[in-house]
Amino acid sequence: MNLTIEKVSKSFGDKKALRNINLEITTGVYAILGANGSGKTTLMRILASVMKPCSGRVLLDGQDITIMGQKYRDVIGYLPQHVGLYKNFTAEKFLLYIAALKGISNERARKKVNEVLELVGLSEHRKGRVGKFSGGMKRRVGIAQALLNDPKILIVDEPTAGLDPKERIRFRNLLSEIASNRIVLLSTHIVSDIEYIAKEVLILKEGQLIQKQPPLDLLKGIEDKVWTVTVSENEITHFQSMYKVGNITRVENKVQLRIVSDTKPHQNAMNENPNLEDLYLYYFDEEVA
Ligand SMILES: Nc1ncnc2c1ncn2[C@@H]1O[C@H](COP(=O)(O)OP(=O)(O)OP(=O)(O)O)[C@@H](O)[C@H]1O
Ligand SMILES: [Mg+2]
Repeated sequence: MNLTIEKVSKSFGDKKALRNINLEITTGVYAILGANGSGKTTLMRILASVMKPCSGRVLLDGQDITIMGQKYRDVIGYLPQHVGLYKNFTAEKFLLYIAALKGISNERARKKVNEVLELVGLSEHRKGRVGKFSGGMKRRVGIAQALLNDPKILIVDEPTAGLDPKERIRFRNLLSEIASNRIVLLSTHIVSDIEYIAKEVLILKEGQLIQKQPPLDLLKGIEDKVWTVTVSENEITHFQSMYKVGNITRVENKVQLRIVSDTKPHQNAMNENPNLEDLYLYYFDEEVA
């Protein structure tokens, strides 16, 4: 299976949300990492075929998805960034309802609903009202609805936002399991999400795809750019104005700054092994997620 994105651009008025995206995707988890407004949702909506690009095209195994139409939508599962769940429905009833909307026959729907509830670990809560579920459980209902049609391509927009660490780990493992024979595309600005499960990380910045690499290779790319510097408290602002400063640790009467910089920020600076937070800091100017 091969999803090809060819010269895709999208503007809203004079706002360029995506600029000439070229990309090839096969099975596995692909993580789209980017700051707010970088174009993640726009790209996912185009891939989910709920929005058309202004120019360029998307091909599945060589076929233009706009020409494939319903045939393409049949292989897509999509969990939007903001989903409305029907609060008074039970998990089971909600999924049966979505299955009906997707045109899945009654008998098959019952079977699929059982299957997806099992897969997301909600079988025991099938009679529970969605409105009373925790954030993580709601997300799992969201994933379950996206899986009803057995999609070959699963697109999930910020699936772990608002989840506690335990729920986030469960959710990551679930996505990783799902991706064994499918394409899973997920967007996030939580760096730890991608560390374990992503086959490749796609970094979007202001609508441009600036990096596409496995997480470890991305880290290698900044190997000699991460430093710690020990200074006194009143020097912090100086370094913050000059460099991208991450963690600030207090040690006795000094502070240790973690800095991401192409050049050595101080003669006493020591090189450190990069992590994904450093990577985020390197590519994006704002605060570490
Ligand atoms: N329907 C729309 N109408 C006008 N502008 C839009 C629309 N959708 C997105 N944009 C703009 O396009 C840019 C990219 O938005 P997008 O939602 O794709 O970013 P994002 O990376 O998903 O951000 P976030 O992390 O906040 O979800 C933003 O500047 C946004 O304001
Ligand atoms: Mg978004």
